[in-house]
Amino acid sequence: MSRSLIVKFPQPGISYKISVGRGLLSSVGDTIVSVSPNLPRKAALVSNRRVFGLYGKIVTASLKAVGIDVFPVLIPDGEKAKSFRVLQTVLNSFSENKMSRTDAVVALGGGVVGDLAGVAASLHLRGVPYYQVPTTLLAMIDSSVGGKTGINSPYGKNLIGSFYQPKAVIADTTTLMTLPKREIVAGFMEAVKQAALSGLPMVERTAKISEHYRKFGREMFGENAIRDRTTDLILENIRFKTSIVRSDERESVAETGSQSRKILNFGHTYGHALEKATQYRNLKHGEAVGWGLLFAATLSKKLEFLSSDELNLLNDVVRGFGRLPDISNIPTNSILDSVLYDKKVIDGEIQWILLNGIGKPVIVSGRHVPRKILVQTHKQITTSP
Ligand code: NAD
Ligand code: GLY
Repeated sequence: MSRSLIVKFPQPGISYKISVGRGLLSSVGDTIVSVSPNLPRKAALVSNRRVFGLYGKIVTASLKAVGIDVFPVLIPDGEKAKSFRVLQTVLNSFSENKMSRTDAVVALGGGVVGDLAGVAASLHLRGVPYYQVPTTLLAMIDSSVGGKTGINSPYGKNLIGSFYQPKAVIADTTTLMTLPKREIVAGFMEAVKQAALSGLPMVERTAKISEHYRKFGREMFGENAIRDRTTDLILENIRFKTSIVRSDERESVAETGSQSRKILNFGHTYGHALEKATQYRNLKHGEAVGWGLLFAATLSKKLEFLSSDELNLLNDVVRGFGRLPDISNIPTNSILDSVLYDKKVIDGEIQWILLNGIGKPVIVSGRHVPRKILVQTHKQITTSP
């Protein structure tokens, strides 16, 4: 079974198809042909060794079948690949292969591949078409959709990048069956984030999916009885995300309401700070977001926005997917100092994304949140069982 939706942006000419389902890797070539006014002669297939080893052949075959030549561009695995050095290697490879503006970049992999390939596509010849073929849960429900591309700098996470929408997103859910357990939990953390922002029904559906996950592990993506429900949850996440991105594609500084794209950073201020404080080594991005959700929900309760019942529910859903890696040995100050490098700092003040009830995001200036409360919040989440 596969399903698709079309995201139409208010700006004329920006719309793309997102397809989710089983067996879609073999249709990547057909999809590109169906949306390209000029048939690409060649495609840069950006991936890493691990994912290319698993799925490179089938995607290459599907591109060749429609007459597109393929040159693989393999980047190192992991967050460290989102660097200037790797970006330059990728751009050089595009130039060496004489990629023109009617050719295509295909990002086959998780969020790291997608973010890096996206920046490279936005820069080469000032922009060449690119296609997202996400192979992690996180990339399917979040990073492949919405056009944020980025690399890290020594000063912080995703500080360099562009808004650049893909021409199509093709998510083959069978790829999730080879995903390591930690990556699945990491992906579900972004699903919990979106559910908390959306409202109680989505939180409850996500909690139900966590029960399936505890029972079946990654087999849930192949298990007949529940795989359609998982696909439904992926689509629900994509719909939620695109509804926000459509209303505030560029995360406008002035937009501060509940439709601001900034709200998608719920849990990310603390999460990114954790990643930076640990030099991007110890935690998966989604695991850091998991801790960030616990932090933001607890902070929301401390500021009397969220009730105890709502906090407990969110804690249960986060922890229901499994244990997050221990962070108790990371110095509190190194995390809280890293918070200041967050992209959402405006006029020297961090903008906290909090919840004024489940499904009711609010943006609160750091000036209203004393450091003492942040320290207490950090202590509370790291000492709770
Ligand atoms: P990732 O890209 O590092 O992939 C996780 C691991 O899984 C890697 O080792 C990868 O090689 C492996 N892998 C990928 N697909 C596989 C498969 N099907 N089978 C087996 N192994 C597979 O991590 P991620 O969690 O997908 O993405 C995290 C990145 O996404 C972060 O850099 C984060 O900043 C970014 N992100 C971007 C956005 C956005 O809007 N652009 C949103 C959320 C996160
Ligand atoms: N993942 C945050 C955003 O896309 O805005």
